[in-house]
Order: sequence, then structure tokens, then C-alpha cells
Amino acid sequence: MSEISVRPLGEEDWQTYRDARLTALRESPEAFVATAEEEEAFEEDFWRLRMNRSARLLAEREETPLGIVSLGRSSDENPKTSQLFGLWVTPEARGSGVATALVRAGANLAREQGQSQLTYWVGSDNGRAVAFASGFGFRPTAERRPMRVVSEDDEDEVAMVLALGGDRGSPPAEF
Ligand SMILES: CC(C)(COP(=O)(O)OP(=O)(O)OC[C@H]1O[C@@H](n2cnc3c(N)ncnc32)[C@H](O)[C@@H]1OP(=O)(O)O)[C@@H](O)C(=O)NCCC(=O)NCCS
Repeated sequence: MSEISVRPLGEEDWQTYRDARLTALRESPEAFVATAEEEEAFEEDFWRLRMNRSARLLAEREETPLGIVSLGRSSDENPKTSQLFGLWVTPEARGSGVATALVRAGANLAREQGQSQLTYWVGSDNGRAVAFASGFGFRPTAERRPMRVVSEDDEDEVAMVLALGGDRGSPPAEF
């Protein structure tokens, strides 16, 4: 089988990103805070803005999209920490290394940007995503937040962190 490739999407790729994002929201509604219904209503201008707000990475095999992930810029409070979010792999491609390829590309990009840590907020009930992140090397922290502002369930998200480079002797970036 041919190789999986991961590429950053530019503003001109907004439709490719939109299609993958809406497919992800429809396929795994429980995994994301946003809903397909909300995002289907967004206009082209907003999708273009989104492409510039965060890095969007697309995994493909022979030009067939297999998954996406986003890398958000750091905040003023944590200038050396970037956020990974919106990770999704097509059901057929799960368990085949696509998630690893996407997160590795996200971690490499953050490292190139001079970042020292990657944060990933994941639903604490999302066993597969938590297992994947742990297997990749993310460590759970004590940070929790409600998954949804308004919701009938009370699922939390847990912050998981990945140190980017350095060695165990380096002081961790403040979370
Ligand atoms: C989360 C996701 C990106 C991970 O990609 P993946 O290809 O499924 O990940 P992998 O198969 O490489 O790793 C999953 C791990 O969870 C394990 N696993 C599978 N189902 C599980 C479950 N129900 N509970 C706990 N662990 C589980 C697998 O055995 C594997 O562990 P291993 O690598 O030690 O064998 C993918 O499952 C997905 O897109 N899910 C739907 C969307 C989603 O939840 N996104 C995350 C939003 S924060």
C-alpha cells in the first residue's frame, strides 16, 4: 500500500479543510465540542479566516483524505505551549498509523516554531483518543474542564501534554 503523507493546508485549501472537518463532526459528534449543524452554516470568509488562525494538517493516501488535525498558536500566558486539537481519522484508516503521522507532523511544526510543549485537551471518556495520546507520549495533567458549556452529560476534558525535544533535565514549560 502507498505511503501516508501529511501536508499543511493553506488558505486556498479551505474547501478541502471544510469537507474533512464537516465529515469529522458528522462521523464523531461525541468527540467534538462543535457540531456539524453549526459549522455547515459558516460562509467562505469564515473558513478562510480559520485557515489562517491555526495550522491545519491533512493526512492523505494517493490524494484521498484520511484525517486532520489542527495546531493552535500559543497564548500570552503560555507563549511556549501550542495546542493540538480537532484530531480525527476516517473510521477505515484507524489503527493504521494515520493519527501518529498527523500528530508527529503537528509536533514537528510546533518544534520548528520554537515551541517547547504541546497541549491536547481530550474527553476523559474518549478511551481511544486518550489511549492514542498516551501511546504517543502525551502525559495526563490534573487540568480538567467541562467538555461543553451547556450539556446534559457532565463529561470532562483532560489536558494532556507532550514535551517537545529537550531532555528530562530541562525544566518543563509552565502549564
Ligand atoms: C482518536 C483517533 C484520532 C485515534 O486514531 P486511531 O487511528 O484510532 O489511533 P490508534 O489506533 O493508533 O491508537 C488507538 C489506541 O487506542 C486503543 N483503543 C482502541 N479502542 C479503545 C477503547 N475503546 N478504549 C481504550 N483504548 C482503545 C488501541 O488499541 C490503540 O492502542 P495501541 O496503540 O496501544 O494499540 C481516532 O480514533 C478518531 O478519529 N476518533 C474519532 C474522533 C476523536 O475521538 N478525535 C479525538 C478528539 S479529541
